[in-house]
Parts: sequence; structure tokens; C-alpha cells
Amino acid sequence: MQKNHRPEEEGFTVTPWEVEGDIDYEKLIEDFGTEDLNQDLLDRIEKMVGDTHFMLRRGIFYSHRDLDRILDDHEEGKKFALYTGRGPSGHTHVGHLMPWIFAKWMQDKFDVDLYFQLTDDEKFLFNFDSELEDTYSYAIENAKDIIALGFDPDKTHIFIDTDFIHQLYPLALKVGKRLNFSNVKAVFGFDNSTNVGSIFYTAIQSAPCFLPTELEGEEVPVLIPCGIDQDPHFRLTRDIAETIGYTKPALLHNKLAPSLDGTGKMSASQPKTTIFTTDKPEDVDEKINEAFTGGRISAAEQREKGGDPSICAIQNYRYYIFESDDEKVDSIAERCRKGDILCGECKQLLKENINRFLSEHQERREKAEKMLDDFLVKDCEQEFRS
Ligand code: TRP
Repeated sequence: MQKNHRPEEEGFTVTPWEVEGDIDYEKLIEDFGTEDLNQDLLDRIEKMVGDTHFMLRRGIFYSHRDLDRILDDHEEGKKFALYTGRGPSGHTHVGHLMPWIFAKWMQDKFDVDLYFQLTDDEKFLFNFDSELEDTYSYAIENAKDIIALGFDPDKTHIFIDTDFIHQLYPLALKVGKRLNFSNVKAVFGFDNSTNVGSIFYTAIQSAPCFLPTELEGEEVPVLIPCGIDQDPHFRLTRDIAETIGYTKPALLHNKLAPSLDGTGKMSASQPKTTIFTTDKPEDVDEKINEAFTGGRISAAEQREKGGDPSICAIQNYRYYIFESDDEKVDSIAERCRKGDILCGECKQLLKENINRFLSEHQERREKAEKMLDDFLVKDCEQEFRS
């Protein structure tokens, strides 16, 4: 059993529910036992689909499990499906969009179905103060953001757990029967005070790994693009998959989007250092103005000595999400290092970029409201919500 991260040991924590500190991503590959997404694999993808994505090129997606097997199968004309998800604890922030934008690219390039799980149950169980009605309505809000990214309605199946449990439950039971308490305890750090809903939850997140096979009546393995913090769930799923007659899910892991204060990852619980898809231009401007940069104490000193883009939240935002053109990212970093551009101007450029993106996204998000029925799959109507 791989170990769980504790801050006192490593100086950082990465679990599905807590990400803190300065994350050593290479160390996570070692500790979690995943594979490095190496140049051979990147070249192979590029050859297969005739294109690459900046998140692959820049090592934002950087680790995997069994991606080579999925590519082998695809080359032989065998099917696979994409599976990813979101815990609806609040509004979507721009960091969440990162893996979803990539999932859309994968869907387009490989022409495959995408299953998208919205875990209103998870957020209800793990956040003590939350109500199911609230996590459900955030799931709907988040679904609009997903739809706004332009996924193909014929190939994209979004489901909210409490609306789709009838389909998930038999699979969750098969998983649940094979996982014992000592497994989940070791992986997630649970103890005797953990509620029993949470202990079972990993079975619910595992269920969609096998759903395409069940729904299509033939073997359809999944590839899961997700944050590396979600790997512990799927490590457990992979351990038992074959014992219940399914292929192990494959994974493609991304690094977590950094926050604007220069520490840790973007988090909805830190609204001032996080940009939400529902933010107005004034909100964006204010948050960017406050962001941590690699600038110097005074303009004069910065012109003379240059800034440090490697620690700068503004440059990180560009690199991770808002600038797909490598040359632009590099040239602005170079100008920063030489002292040719100061933080005010650099922030202004990013603000314009983000606000342009958000105004278009918000328009598509509004239209998405009417498209919810085209994307959301349900198995029954719930009384308690009406
Ligand atoms: N647990 C994830 C979260 O809190 C949500 C999730 C469910 C997920 N299934 C997934 C994420 C599959 C990635 C891939 O956000």
C-alpha cells in the first residue's frame, strides 16, 4: 500500500481533500507509484492525433498509469472512454477549468465519449456544514461551466450522483465489497471518527470507471484525466478492478493550478486569491492587483535587476491556463528578467486576457442553462428537491 502524505514528513500534503504546501511533484510520482509522462509518450500522442496540447508540452499533465495501454488499444481500433469529475463544493474557479479544457481536447482528438461525475454526495459527506440541497445546486452551476466549454452533447454524459445513483449503485457495491476498512484507512488517513458515508465514498467514485462497459455492453476501458490528488481513489479501484471482472482504469495526472498568493493550489475556500468563472471584471482586476509577483521592492530596482517570473503568480496563470502560445509566455518572462516590463503592465495584460475569456465564457454559460437536459443523465426525479 502506498503511503499517504503528512505535512510533518514532507513539508507538503496531497490527499483528495487537502492540498497544502510546496508540492514536490516528482516525489508524488515516486510515492504514489505512477509513471512519468515521458517524451516518447508525448511524441506518440502527437503522431496519433496530429497535434499536441500546451498542457502536455509544458508538463502540466505530467504523470500517468497505463496510458500506453490505452494508446495501444486505440491504435488497434478498440474503444476507450474518458472519465473525469468534480466535487461541487462551490462555484467553479478557473483552476478547475484546466483539466476540463484538456478533456475536451482529448474528446475532440480521439473522438471518444466523456463521462463526467458531479459528486454532490461527496461534498455533503466530507464538509460537515454543507447541505445536500446546496451541493446539488452547485452541481448544476458547475455543469453549466462544463457545457460552456463546448463539449459534444452526443458524446458527453454528465451525471450528478444523487440523480444517477440507480446506475452507479450496483457497481459501487461490487467495489465496496472488495475494499476493506484497513485499505481505505491507510490510503486516506481515516480514523474511528470518520463518518461511514465517507468511508464508502471511494466506491462511488470508482463506479464510473466501469460504467461505459456496462452501458455499452462491451469492454470499454476508461482513461481518467485528473489532478494527481485524486490518484489515491483510483489506486484502490485499480487494485480490485480485475477481481470484479473489469479492466483497470488508466490515468493521466495534472499538476494543481497554483493560487494567486503564490502558495499552494487555487482553492474555493480562499476566494480572494482565486478567480471564479462567475467573477465580474472588477473582481478580476482587484484579485490580480493583489496577487503575489516576482517583482522587486521598487520600480527602479526592478528596472535595474529584473524580476523573477519563476515565483510569480501572474506568470503562473499565463503558463497554466491563459496563454497557449509558448513564445508569448517565454518572451514576457524574458522581458521580466531583464527589467523591461514591470508588474503593473504585466498584470494589466493578464487582466485583459482573463476578462476577455470570462466574458465569452459567461455568455456561453448562460446559454448552457437551456442545454442542461441535453447533457445531464438521470435515473429518477427526487422528491425532496421540488
Ligand atoms: N473527488 C473529486 C473532487 O473532489 C470529484 C471526482 C469524482 C473526480 N470523480 C472524479 C475527479 C474523477 C477526477 C476524476 O473534485
